[in-house]
Amino acid sequence: MQPQEAYHDTTNDPAMVLRTVDFRRLADLIERRAGINLPQHKMALVAHRLQRRLRALKIATLRDYCDFLLTNEQAEAEMPHFINALTTNKTEFFREPSHFDFLTEVALPDLHSRRHYNSALPLMAWSAACSTGMEVYTLAMVLAEWNETHGNLPFMIHGTDIDTNVLQDAARAVYHHEVIEPVPTALRHKYLLRPRTSSDETIRIAPELRARTRWGHLNLMEGGSPSDRPFDIVFCRNVLIYFSKETQQLVLESICKHIVPGGYLFVSHSETLNGLSLPVKSVAPSTYVRL
Ligand SMILES: C[S@@+](CC[C@H](N)C(=O)[O-])C[C@H]1O[C@@H](n2cnc3c(N)ncnc32)[C@H](O)[C@@H]1O
Repeated sequence: MQPQEAYHDTTNDPAMVLRTVDFRRLADLIERRAGINLPQHKMALVAHRLQRRLRALKIATLRDYCDFLLTNEQAEAEMPHFINALTTNKTEFFREPSHFDFLTEVALPDLHSRRHYNSALPLMAWSAACSTGMEVYTLAMVLAEWNETHGNLPFMIHGTDIDTNVLQDAARAVYHHEVIEPVPTALRHKYLLRPRTSSDETIRIAPELRARTRWGHLNLMEGGSPSDRPFDIVFCRNVLIYFSKETQQLVLESICKHIVPGGYLFVSHSETLNGLSLPVKSVAPSTYVRL
């Protein structure tokens, strides 16, 4: 698990004071570009997170950064850094484990029995806001395990995110050993590689799992899919909470277009599809089947 970010009091440094009017300009911009809704109480957090960008660009004050971002034609090159700075990337292996139990006990047997999967084409899974990849590698472990006991279900997992930094981490597949605590011991031995030296505190994901993954930059606000083929399983967890209801509707409408009828959609237990109009039916808590 990544450390929680502390709120930072910036009021003693005049350059770092984010005025309400500028906060609103930045909040409007990030919502337009990434869908992320920033309530007023996140003002200090935003000011803190942008400090590194000011140093990198040698910009003296948050006010100047704001002006640069909103009025300068060259600011488009800064946009990915601005977005990366304001995303929240907290993730874990086996986060919300009941989803993975549901996959093993219900979804995979169901998908396997309804095969069209007799074909050589792999089962398609998508983590639609994958952060540093732990959700994707958890899925890979669960699918590989299912294959060991139930036979051959070839699979491919796509991980996408708007944040270009986390995608690099995901593709590198190297993690601090403390984050593997939620991974069951038997799976650790099989799928996580220990370092050669005892001073090295990292683990690596086994190559046979990495070979089943693909990574790509995808902004959910822009729709689209990381593959030409539709998906059997989509995880879109812990990202909808940052979006307004209208944005949730647009994002999920688009995702549903890329799920096969009978395919599964997982959102977080802290997210709800209540009030949205989507071609899905609920089959378990925060778990849906595409109609
Ligand atoms: C809290 S993490 C959730 C990671 C993982 N799904 C999980 O549940 O552990 C939210 C992720 O959503 C990504 N994100 C935010 N807005 C996005 C957007 N418009 N398009 C794609 N990804 C977005 C962030 O970069 C971040 O990595």
